[in-house]
Amino acid sequence: MKNLILVNFKDYKEASFNNGLRLAKICDFVAKKCKKEIWIAVEAPDIYNISKNVKLKVLAQHIDPVEAKRNTGYIEARDVKLNGAYGTLLNHSEHKLKFKDLKNAVRMARKARLKVVICAARPNEVNKVKKLKPDYIAVEPPELIAGNIAVSQAKPQVITNSVKLTKIKVLCGAGIKNENDVKKSIELGARGILVSSGIVLSKNPRRVLTKMANVI
Ligand code: G3P
Repeated sequence: MKNLILVNFKDYKEASFNNGLRLAKICDFVAKKCKKEIWIAVEAPDIYNISKNVKLKVLAQHIDPVEAKRNTGYIEARDVKLNGAYGTLLNHSEHKLKFKDLKNAVRMARKARLKVVICAARPNEVNKVKKLKPDYIAVEPPELIAGNIAVSQAKPQVITNSVKLTKIKVLCGAGIKNENDVKKSIELGARGILVSSGIVLSKNPRRVLTKMANVI
């Protein structure tokens, strides 16, 4: 199994609607050219359009722990699946869930046959969420998100300790900006990275992503 680059588009305007499609096509191009595994997590309204136009695996950024019945304004697992999603991110530090809700959201995701990537802030949270058996656990200390120092450089022990705690594949996230940060993440035992601003806000996402893909 190849190491993974998961690009979170968040709700940055640089990565939604037409801009989102453009960025998705860049990620698709890099994945093909470098023959690497790249997934993208896009805003719910963009899942259908983007998944129809690229070969990449598209994830929802979140689903709600609700059944498809009388609910208003929720994002349901079954719907994101029908719209083309391959999986979902859950419990991102910008969209935290109570453990009970997280557990139910994972159950809904599995029922809809979605892959699951759960975010955890640090090793003690990895210990809790590993019980839910996600496909990946993305470790991201919130204080480093969108900053200029990568977790792999600033707090390497957060990654090594997380990797020791579980057999589930760990992604390294927060502040990843360049290929050195990626290289270091893999050296620490991560099976890939979760990255956002380093790609989405870059002046040249294709170049940055290609450099990252070449070392993953
Ligand atoms: O989900 C990715 C994330 O929160 C890290 O963001 O901007 O530090 O790469 P960033």
